[in-house]
This record gives sequence, C-alpha cells and structure tokens, in this order.
Amino acid sequence: MSETIVSRLKEHRTFAPSAEFSAAARVTSHEAYAALYAQSLEAPEEFWRQQTTDIVWRKTWDTFCEWNLPHAKFFVGAKLNVTETCLDRHLTTSARTRAAIVWEGEPGDVRTLTYFELHREVVRFAAALADLGVVAGDRVAIYLGMIPEAAIAMLACARLGAAHSVVFGGFSAEALRDRINDCQAKVLITQDGAYRRGSVVPLKQMADKALLETPSIEKVIVHRRMDDGRAPVTMHEGRDVWWSDALSRPASEQSMGLARRPDAFDAEHPLFILYTSGSTGKPKGVLHTTAGYLAGAHVTTKYIFDVKDSDLYWCTADVGWVTGHSYIVYGPLSVGAACMMYEGAPNFPDWSRFWSIIERHGVSILYTAPTAIRAFIRAGDEWPNKHDLSSLRLLGSVGEPINPEAWVWYHTVVGKGRCPIVDTWWQTETGSVMLTTLPGASYSKPGATGLPFFGVEIEVVKDDGAKVAAGDGGKLVIKRPWPSMARTLFRDDERYKQAYWSQIPGVYFTGDGARCDSDGYFWVVGRIDDVLNVAGHRIGTAEIESALASHPSVAEAAAVGKPDELKGQALVVFVTLKSGQVASKALKDALAVHIDKEIGKFARPDQIRFADALPKTRSGKIMRRLLKEIASGTAQGDTSTLEDLGVLASLRASDED
Ligand code: WT7
Repeated sequence: MSETIVSRLKEHRTFAPSAEFSAAARVTSHEAYAALYAQSLEAPEEFWRQQTTDIVWRKTWDTFCEWNLPHAKFFVGAKLNVTETCLDRHLTTSARTRAAIVWEGEPGDVRTLTYFELHREVVRFAAALADLGVVAGDRVAIYLGMIPEAAIAMLACARLGAAHSVVFGGFSAEALRDRINDCQAKVLITQDGAYRRGSVVPLKQMADKALLETPSIEKVIVHRRMDDGRAPVTMHEGRDVWWSDALSRPASEQSMGLARRPDAFDAEHPLFILYTSGSTGKPKGVLHTTAGYLAGAHVTTKYIFDVKDSDLYWCTADVGWVTGHSYIVYGPLSVGAACMMYEGAPNFPDWSRFWSIIERHGVSILYTAPTAIRAFIRAGDEWPNKHDLSSLRLLGSVGEPINPEAWVWYHTVVGKGRCPIVDTWWQTETGSVMLTTLPGASYSKPGATGLPFFGVEIEVVKDDGAKVAAGDGGKLVIKRPWPSMARTLFRDDERYKQAYWSQIPGVYFTGDGARCDSDGYFWVVGRIDDVLNVAGHRIGTAEIESALASHPSVAEAAAVGKPDELKGQALVVFVTLKSGQVASKALKDALAVHIDKEIGKFARPDQIRFADALPKTRSGKIMRRLLKEIASGTAQGDTSTLEDLGVLASLRASDED
C-alpha cells in the first residue's frame, strides 16, 4: 500500500471520549459544540457576554469590537483589573482555601499557595513595586525560573497596570539585554539561581552582565532561591533589592492602598509584551492587552481543559513562553483552578519525575509538549509504568504537531486509554488556543489538531486568499479578529502589518502550512516561513544567522531545520569562514558557545557544517531549500537556478563532524 493511502487510512482512526467523560463535561456532544460555535460567529457579542460573566468588570463595555484592519479593539470602554478576576473574586468562594499553586522544586521541596495566600503575596509585592516607583504604563522585565514568584511578579505588575515582559530563564545575558532595551523596562525582577537538571543557572550573574548595558533599568529585585551559597550574588548598591527586603519594609500607605484596592484599567491597556522569533534577526515584541487577552485565556481554559474544583491541573511549559502566560497563570487562575508547577527538568533525577509528580500530588489534567512525549517514549515505558497514573483524566498537547505514534503512546501508556487528548494549536500572537477539540464533545484524530475554537474563523488558503479544497495543503489564515489577538508589535507597528497582514489580503497569516480534511479537522504541518520549531521552541533562522555572523571568524551563515525524531526539527547551520580562518573542531565549539552567549543554550545548533561557499541563486539569494535537502540527506531537487554547481559537491562533503 502506498504511503499516502496508509496515511489517509490513519486519518479515519478516531478516538471518542467515554460516555462518562462526556456526561460530566462542559460541552457534552459534537452537536452542542457546533451550536455554540455557530452562535460565536453569528452573534459574537452575545456569545462573549454570556461567556465572560465570571470576569470582574468594573465597568462593562460600550462597543464589543472595533475593527480597522489590521487593528482590533475589543470590549471598548470596559474597565477592569485582570487580577481581580484571577485572585480577588476567589476570596469569597470556596476557592479561597483551595490551592492556587502546588509547587515542587527540582530538589524536591514543595510549597502550596492557596488563593488566599497568592492574593496576599501579590498584594504585598505590588505594594513593594509601587514603592520602588512602578506605575501604570511602565514596563517590568521578569527573568525568573519556574517558581511561584514568577506568577506573583506577573500578577503584581498586572495589578498596577505595568506591562510585564517575561524573559525565559534559558536566554542569555545578551538576549535579556536586548529585550530589556527594546521595551525600555524600568525594573528587572530576577533570582539568585535556578535549579536545572541538578545544576544551578546563575540568573542574577547573567542579569548583571545584561545590566551593564540597560540604561532604562532603575531597580533590580532579587528573589533568593538558593540558601547554600550555590549562586553567589553581588548586590549593586542603590539599584538591587532583595525580594524579602522589599516586602519587609513597610510599604507606604499610598502603595498599600493601591495594591489592596487596585485601579481598573481600560480594556485596551497593555497587559504584557512577550518577545518571540520572526523571520528577521530582531525578536518581535508581541503586545497583548487587558480585556480581550483575559477573555480568550479564560474561556479557552474553561472549555478546553474543562477544569473542575476537584482537578489538579498541570501545564508543564515554562512561564517564559506564551503557554506559561495563558495556561499557567492567567487562564487557570481566572477559572480558579488548582495548578501544579514544577521547577526543574523532566528527567531529574531520572525519567520518573513527571510520573512521580502526577502520582504524589494527584494531577488530573496534564498539558505538555510532543517533544517531551517523544523523549519519554525513548526513555522507555518502564518509567510511567512504575507509577500510579490513575488520577489523570485529561491530557493536552501543545507547541508543535504531534505525530500519530506519539499521540497513541500518550493515549495508551500515560492515559491508559481512558483520557481524551486535546491537541491545541495556537501562537504567541493568538494569545489563546485557536484549534483543538473540546474533550467531551468531539472525537480526536491522532495527528490532527482539530476544530476551530469558539469565535475562530480559520481557513486553509492559496496565496491569493482563495480557500483550497478539503484535504489540500495551503496556508493557514484567520479571517476575522478575535479578542486575544496581539494588538501590534511593541513600537513596531509597521512590522506587525508586514509580518501578519501583508501576505494574503485582508486576513491574518499564521506562518503555518496546514490542510483541513473532509470532516473539518485541521492538520497543521508546521511553519512555512523562516522560523523553526526546535523541541517546541520557536527559533528564527535569521536570529541564528545574525548571531553567527557576529563572530569574528564567520563570513556568512545559513540556518535550516532538518527533521528530528526527538525535537521535531533539529537546527543545522552552514558556515563560511573569513579568509585566513581555519575550520576546526575548536572553532565549531567556539561557535556553539557563541550561540549560547548571544541567544541561549536552547538555541545551540545540532550540527555546524563548514562550507567553502553557500548555494546562491544568480540574484544572490541563499537557496535554503537546497540546504535543507542537504541537511536532511534527501534527494537533490531542482538546481537549475544555482549559480555555482561546484558548491554542491563541497557542501555534501561537509559532513556533520
Ligand atoms: C507555532 C507557535 C502555542 C504555544 C506554544 C508555541 C507551532 C503550536 C501546535 C500544535 C502544530 C503547533 C505552530 C505555531 N504549534 N502548537 N498543536 N500543532 N503546531 O508558541 O512559540 O508562538 O509558536 O508553534 O507552528 O505557529 P509559539
């Protein structure tokens, strides 16, 4: 049987939720989903009014949506403070004493914060921030590991109306510096060190390096995570303050008052900026605003994760990525969920760690990434099989396409065939999930993401914007604005227009290729722009290339992806050297270290290949397709536009090591 027939047959393999799961779910049937979906498109305002009654509106909106392509405003005229929905409203219900965060450190320490305690900490920290001069409209950079303080810091900023910009702890000092400078952050919140796979990541030391060149920063708040001198810290007089000292000083009455009874902000007030990779070297500062973002995170969490009071929900992402923003912090807290949070690596001290956390704490909803699932498959079934996973009732996947084999393993070995899997497709820019299946309503197909979420009008189109036939591949576009969409790129509206709204007239282009089958299920293939998805991390090829080009030995570099069993895509770079420079193992190592320094260890290439020249078209464009084929070892395609055929032979000879 041909491969396409096999894969078509696989498309028809479906997994329906059990009758028991459906009966208890928020949406109990496909028909109910379809009816609500139809309402969300036909009467959007009514839909969002009904679905956002749990949001604490200090003032309701005058106009639901203002759409001036490509700029949207939602809930215009409304006033709210996001943290009242995430925290204060739970203080008058049984959620008050429920765990908001059950946190486990990598060394095994455990801390639980109830909604009451989380609220208290956020108020105290917001007062401290206000005392340090943070006011509404400011930007605050957050460079923390996976500790409850990350959520506390984000929420304290939101409480004051200061936009946070969380920088993933895996980013280097240089990457932190650039992000701080781009958003002109006034305050940086960091920690002495973070545990990762048994060692300590010296965040404050790295921040100190960044802070040599960040004139906008006035104050640095340092949380102490290490108590054994494992991450020595130098405090910079007049600038650096320990988190605990900031809290122990009595906040001024004014700051305390503001933290306790926070201001309400306009629906379109900036909530956060999050940097993500695009097709140029400079990261994009995706801007999300208050009401629409919260509405998106809230409603998706409610329906997709179907969270109940009895659940312990665990999203394994890092708060430094958008998944952590929407599905560790804002979404789950807005529905009053009890959230598991884990500091460290999935394989520390061994591959049991996730399963042991699930067993010991009773996690019932697990939301993780395909790259992690594939690593678990490789590590072996004995690890999950050693643990009692019977508390699990729902599984989720995010970040990249999940291959059917990984899906089936997740379903069988982790979910024991009992738990529906929701595959969720979305992006930093969409703010919340756009494609999925609702767990009690529709069947899943391994490998397909699923159906549009409420309010999402999404299609696969050709370059001219015409819809392709069912089953055909094309570009994935979103055809109408939705509440949690990015409003712009911070201080770069031109790039916002150009990156998302210029390729296909009138619609938002996601950068992904996809197809939609005859059942209406979307299959997302992956990026079709110059962006790679390596182990669930979005990496721009241009970013890698400009980092390499800044090394004194490098003349030119081209970065491409190649399929990788574990990471989805692996990063391969081709490098040409300046004259007089000699290709060597030592130089390869130096270039790898250079990438660590410029971007972060997670962006380290899987292969560095030296070449005499890069393949170019006659007009001088690097032929990436060709490089991709060479990196993947697949047959050579059309080389008719290649300028210098001799280049090919030498590239192929530039083996991996
Ligand atoms: C890109 C967005 C969404 C939060 C994490 C990543 C890919 C994401 C899926 C999925 C297939 C997926 C897409 C998308 N992607 N989820 N379920 N199936 N692909 O956020 O860094 O903004 O990356 O990740 O290519 O465009 P991000």
